[in-house]
Amino acid sequence: MILGKGHASGKVILFGEHAVVYGRPALAVPVTQVRAEAIVEAGSRGEGLVICAEDLDEELPLDGAPADHPLALVARLTLAHLGLKTSPGWRVRIRSTIPIASGLGSGAAVSAAVARALAEAAGRPLAPATLSAIVFEVDKLHHGIPSGIDNSVICYGQPVYFRREHPPQFFPIGQPFMLAIADSGIASPTRAAVADVRRAWESNPSHFEALFDQIAAIVEAARLAIGSGRPEALGPLMDRNHDILREIGVSSPALESLAAAARRAGAGGAKLSGGGRGGNLIALVTRETAGRVDAALRAAGAANVILTTVEPTDGS
Ligand code: PMV
Repeated sequence: MILGKGHASGKVILFGEHAVVYGRPALAVPVTQVRAEAIVEAGSRGEGLVICAEDLDEELPLDGAPADHPLALVARLTLAHLGLKTSPGWRVRIRSTIPIASGLGSGAAVSAAVARALAEAAGRPLAPATLSAIVFEVDKLHHGIPSGIDNSVICYGQPVYFRREHPPQFFPIGQPFMLAIADSGIASPTRAAVADVRRAWESNPSHFEALFDQIAAIVEAARLAIGSGRPEALGPLMDRNHDILREIGVSSPALESLAAAARRAGAGGAKLSGGGRGGNLIALVTRETAGRVDAALRAAGAANVILTTVEPTDGS
């Protein structure tokens, strides 16, 4: 018997990754084509809570699970919030179509789905801000010191303009636009990229601060272009943001050849998205160019390409 269900979409960062860790703004949007789902069912008697990550073939009894296991942590934090002191005899089954460690927010979406399903099973749905705070705690295991952008966009399910330690702002989408999201096929933990950027920043803070300021200006211009229905203006901004990310040291040969292929095939612009090194590249496309850019990205080595339309949501 199903006691509760929860799901959450993936996300992409449009502009501002890495600089957002240093207090600059960033823009991110949900990607509804991929998502994580969790279902809570009645378990066997006396078993306590058992979490089953079906895609990974992993079964984790909560009692005795390590404190730093992300699934155990999200379950413990949620049960504590719900005031359930001992783990109930439930099975939580998780499935996700979001590629892992590729910048689409798989960790945060799985956490959000699990927390939502547990809360529904307990008859006490979580407010987005509460959910977001729980997911943020778990994201610290994945990311080290996350900025908070992933949990915000995923838990609110809306386009967000995000600044560290500020409540997320939701921004309007003046006119829908299309993105091709190409998975480089290279799993790249965000934590490592963020740590490398930190070391580089420590060795030359003024140079890096100047680069982050340039990214902040791009984010503001992009927010205006999106809000006023001029998505075609995003292409050159994506190219510039990508150039700066390369200078920061988070691009890679695979991402460079994907970006070049997308631009050659007619994309309005292209940039890496998320932590970088591997993970995803996003390219601005239209109905006319989408097919060509998709094919070019695959020919240039993309493991998968998702075409998504960024559209106004209820709250934007
Ligand atoms: O790799 P992703 O998409 O989870 O995003 C990481 C974004 C960074 O700015 C590099 C880190 C952060 O915590 O914001």
